[in-house]
Amino acid sequence: MPEILLDVRSLTHRYAITGKSTLTALDGVTFQIRRGEIFGLVGQSGSGKSTAARCIMNLLRPTGGKLLYKGVDLLDPKQRRANRKMLQTTRQLIFQDSGSSLNPRMTLAEIITEPMAIHRVKSPRGSMRAEAELRAKSVGLSPSCLDRFPPELSGGQRQRAAIARALCMEPELLIADEPVASLDVSVQAQILNLFRHLQERHGFSLLFIAHDMSAVRWLCSRVGVLCRGRLVEAAPVPELFENPLHPCTRALLSSVPLPDPRRERERQLEHFDADTLPSAGTLYEASPDHFVLKED
Ligand SMILES: Nc1ncnc2c1ncn2[C@@H]1O[C@H](COP(=O)(O)OP(=O)(O)O)[C@@H](O)[C@H]1O
Ligand SMILES: [Mg+2]
Repeated sequence: MPEILLDVRSLTHRYAITGKSTLTALDGVTFQIRRGEIFGLVGQSGSGKSTAARCIMNLLRPTGGKLLYKGVDLLDPKQRRANRKMLQTTRQLIFQDSGSSLNPRMTLAEIITEPMAIHRVKSPRGSMRAEAELRAKSVGLSPSCLDRFPPELSGGQRQRAAIARALCMEPELLIADEPVASLDVSVQAQILNLFRHLQERHGFSLLFIAHDMSAVRWLCSRVGVLCRGRLVEAAPVPELFENPLHPCTRALLSSVPLPDPRRERERQLEHFDADTLPSAGTLYEASPDHFVLKED
């Protein structure tokens, strides 16, 4: 079995609201990402996906749990300091609107190679321009885009640039937080294809966050389902789609449109009331590598 790159154990986060009240966004979430795999994290809006991504990227300090990345304890300030450069360069985040948050006053060539400039990484290609050209090509952007500014490009082109920028550091872990949610459906398919192609080529591990089960089915090898901050099920993708065990997973699957019009007309939407989640539970292995939350 491939080495575990990221080990998330009992990750918990509570946001302070007002006074003494808190909101539990993550509650004891445990999963692992193996080297070179595409792991999907799905759940409805508000289920805690982005909070998990921000904790893993050290953008947010979780209330509890453990995060081990390449054996480094991400919550231990001493270990983080000792591995600062490795942590900053080998983990990269792409988010839903990373395309629109690119600096509008920088050219695409500058944007794509900026992380290398910041970390003083020399391009093996000899010049930053050659580096930008190569990176642009690898994400399907024509070299003529490189002298243009983000507002002159389409949403899909901007997201491609954001991906090229993340990849110029040759990350080992790429986290993509709903990277296609704000794009047109036809462009979504192109970007998903691109992720697949780039993963095969570069071999990074990808944490792919989505609320859309069909994208996960197509792209990921394993998937975890989040429901109101709890991981309710985790399994290899074919197993989860054939044999969903948790009602929350079944509800998410029932909302995926079917290509056959007759079956689509007969499709029944399943609902899951998150208030019925047990207050305490543990993941148990229902079949090899298929885990489901069971009430204690
Ligand atoms: N900065 C914040 N302060 C307070 N509550 C927050 C904050 N960010 C997110 N939340 C809440 O935490 C829960 C999980 O949010 P989030 O991780 O963004 O979910 P997702 O990415 O799955 O939509 C939601 O109920 C959300 O309203
Ligand atoms: Mg989110």
